[in-house]
Amino acid sequence: MKTVFITGISRGLGLKLTEHYLRMGYRVIGVSRTCSRQLADLIEQYPERLVWKQFDLGNIDDLDTRLEETLSLASEKIDIFIDNAAILYKDLIHRIKGEELAKMVAINVTSPMIVTKMVLNNFMRNKTKGIIVHISSICAHRSFYGLSMIGATKAAIETFSQDTAYEYGRFGIRSNTVVIGLMEIGMKETVNERLTEQLKSISALRRLIDADSVVNTIDYLTSDKSHCITGENIHINAGIL
Ligand SMILES: NC(=O)c1ccc[n+]([C@@H]2O[C@H](COP(=O)([O-])OP(=O)(O)OC[C@H]3O[C@@H](n4cnc5c(N)ncnc54)[C@H](OP(=O)(O)O)[C@@H]3O)[C@@H](O)[C@H]2O)c1
Repeated sequence: MKTVFITGISRGLGLKLTEHYLRMGYRVIGVSRTCSRQLADLIEQYPERLVWKQFDLGNIDDLDTRLEETLSLASEKIDIFIDNAAILYKDLIHRIKGEELAKMVAINVTSPMIVTKMVLNNFMRNKTKGIIVHISSICAHRSFYGLSMIGATKAAIETFSQDTAYEYGRFGIRSNTVVIGLMEIGMKETVNERLTEQLKSISALRRLIDADSVVNTIDYLTSDKSHCITGENIHINAGIL
């Protein structure tokens, strides 16, 4: 049975991915700071195959050592890693608050890099041809008022994913990024009506992104069907061209 490690599984896309992989018969291990009612229901439904640990990825001191211990990774083999957890701090550039920005950089950039290091060591220790998927955003490719900082954090992750693919491809390890537009769930709640309408109107399909479309694309990237795809950014944005 394959094991998928997903960060940020309490709600939004991470919760959808957790449901999906459990339905597909995988074992899921995941972290978040809180446990939602929906996540608690899943833990009750799949006690054998879902392991959730409360963990704050924003605290980067000894992050890999603490996370490895929390998830008992010395005796655990990871097959797939989905770097999903992130936060959104939005503001115009002349109003940036250093503390808020530093918090977002820690969770969206530093932590995923350190967790990827931990996962790569797990892959190599177990000789696993592991698969990594990072989640990026349209904001790394297009400009929107107030979204420069999240865009910059996601651009960093896209480059990191590409370089992971380059350095570890020789071990059969793949790393790709899905770059998503505005989804109908999760962080969308913090996006105002004007930006929502703007994103709809500039997309060829004139719509937001449904979570199933993202889950199905990630499912493809984490399957053998995509065995020759690595180092790529796969855009899911209803045609923002
Ligand atoms: N929603 C969109 O429209 C959209 C668009 C483009 C890209 N994305 C990307 O898609 C991914 C998922 O977004 P979403 O909309 O599903 O977000 P969300 O609903 O806000 O969920 C974020 C998840 O990350 C976890 N998380 C946040 N900070 C954490 C921390 N310090 N330690 C551990 N876990 C933490 C949260 O759990 P706790 O709060 O319980 O810790 C939650 O489970 C993110 O990478 C986001 O940037 C989303």
